[in-house]
Amino acid sequence: MTRFYVTTPIYYVNDAPHIGHAYTTVTADALARWHRLIGDDVFFLTGTDEHGLKVQRAAEANGLTPMEHADRTSDRYRQTWAGLDISYDDFIRTTEPRHYQATQKLMQAAYDNGWIELRPYEGLYCVSCEAYYTEGELIDGNLCPIHRTPVEMLKEENYFFKLSEFSDRLLEWFEQKPGAVTPEAKRNEAIGLIKGGLRDISISRTSITWGVPVPWDAGHVFYVWYDALINYATAVGYGADPARFGAWWPEAHHLIGKDILRFHCVYWPALLMAAGLEPPKRIAVHGFLLVGGEKMSKSALNQIAPADLIPTFGVDGFRYHFLRDQTFGPDGDFSYEGMVARYNADLANNLGNLLARVSTVVERKCGGIGPAPDPESRLAAIAASVYEAAASAWERIAPSEALDATWRLVRETNAALEAAEPWKADPGPAVNAVLGDALEALRIVALLASPALSRASQEIWRRIGLAGAVSEQRLPEAAAWGGYPAGSRVERAGPLFPRITE
Ligand code: ME8
Ligand code: MG
Repeated sequence: MTRFYVTTPIYYVNDAPHIGHAYTTVTADALARWHRLIGDDVFFLTGTDEHGLKVQRAAEANGLTPMEHADRTSDRYRQTWAGLDISYDDFIRTTEPRHYQATQKLMQAAYDNGWIELRPYEGLYCVSCEAYYTEGELIDGNLCPIHRTPVEMLKEENYFFKLSEFSDRLLEWFEQKPGAVTPEAKRNEAIGLIKGGLRDISISRTSITWGVPVPWDAGHVFYVWYDALINYATAVGYGADPARFGAWWPEAHHLIGKDILRFHCVYWPALLMAAGLEPPKRIAVHGFLLVGGEKMSKSALNQIAPADLIPTFGVDGFRYHFLRDQTFGPDGDFSYEGMVARYNADLANNLGNLLARVSTVVERKCGGIGPAPDPESRLAAIAASVYEAAASAWERIAPSEALDATWRLVRETNAALEAAEPWKADPGPAVNAVLGDALEALRIVALLASPALSRASQEIWRRIGLAGAVSEQRLPEAAAWGGYPAGSRVERAGPLFPRITE
């Protein structure tokens, strides 16, 4: 059986979940659902990143211990994901004992292999990034290029990871595995970083205590990023369950935003090599969701929380929007007006209307009993090509294309109904054939849209009279034309996606 291990970044507990975090997480969830449908053995991991100076300071500002603060925010993430039907298999917190053990083991391996050593260090540090910068990288002399807040001079003795010695091995890996970092533009960016020259990196701190202790030197904790990245290994049993780790690693597909490309596409593969492990199978990097052309941030007061949108659009409307509207890769602008327009067009009008029409006409012309689809239907060929296009798009992590392909079947089915006008015709074989085809198309759409529409796909399935759960179906077999069982009772009910008029 094919294994599919998919991860999101583990989110910092100093911030509350917003639509940017939701974007990555919903995408990972849709991929997990797709891979379960095609019969893969799926492991879907998300979680929270709980160490580091930023968290320590956020806790202090709120009069809490770091652990109390982490408990609260981690819980907010969990609640947000529950509210979005995120079907993760594991939620990791970096403060868990299993993660301390794995981090210490992996780092010890890299240390024993001679890739880590102690050196004095002084540098310009952005607390929000938890990263050192060179002067050349700063804006206006002393501002962090990402947060535009002043950096601080930090001096300490650090353990250094000899990253500079991994350039050749990294470039070789990129060459041998052209699909390891996608999309192409992000792959080129990562290669550019390596070719631009890699410096050794500081991986420990003595100035703080909120972190995983360095096992061979009690005065140090690992710098937050070098415990965070290891979460992906912890969760599949690194250092604790070799058989389990061997089964899942390196089958990892890491979904990340472009802000953390360097850590995932350069530092993480190198660190794994240093510990004697293989780099992950794929790192898929997406752009930023912008609001009014700007990056969302606490200071700009332009953060949108999922809970701001779910009451209006529903869980399905929310998930659909971000999967369909944002091309995975480049930056994309979010606007409320755009979200309303797409919801009304794709969900209320196209899909919602199709279901409403079909169930109404089946009630009036067929006594509410669904007729058989025509094996020779023109829609059969369309459904087959839609399946191919959708499957290939999910495989390439292009949810927007997968859904666009799926909606082609919705549009073609609506067009076929409009051409045949079964609502005007007398009951009989002609009407039955058109409605049987439409029911069959709806069945296939429910399957193909289910990674996005976690609820509505099941509701369509139920209303057209099918038993069981959409998620229990297996593709491609279940999507073959002709699966709709004639004689099923079709239910007419209220609008699946009520129009939004504001
Ligand atoms: O970086 N558009 O955590 P983080 C799209 N703890 N995606 C966005 C986004 C936006 N505007 N804003 C955030 C960290 N994201 C580390 C990760 S992993 C070992 C450690 C998403 O809370 C996107 O996935 O800052 C981005 O990479 C991630 O949230 C950063 O989350
Ligand atoms: Mg961040």
